[in-house]
Amino acid sequence: MNLSRWDEYGLENREDILAEISAMIRSRQMPPSRYLRLHPNAKPSDEEIDLIYKWARAERKRLRSVKP
Ligand code: HEM
Repeated sequence: MNLSRWDEYGLENREDILAEISAMIRSRQMPPSRYLRLHPNAKPSDEEIDLIYKWARAERKRLRSVKP
């Protein structure tokens, strides 16, 4: 996944990635713990995690609804 190339991904692909983002952020597998040990201030707050989770879910739902 490369978020800088988001626009180049097809609908199906985006939906799959959004599902991954929801799962990864909610289970706190991302950002990786070894990365956070080196960059402690990159640790997202509970609010930020919730915001990313809700955005990923809502965006996935939206994409599903615009599909023909
Ligand atoms: C909140 C921020 C982050 C989110 C939401 C996130 C989300 C994700 C997702 C959804 C994947 C799977 C991508 C795929 O299927 O192509 C992934 C993979 C990966 N991410 Fe992150 N990520 C975050 C931050 C980071 C950071 C800071 C690093 C630091 C180096 C990192 C390193 C990786 C690596 C190495 C993989 C691929 C290896 C693997 O599958 O275990 N991520 N991430």
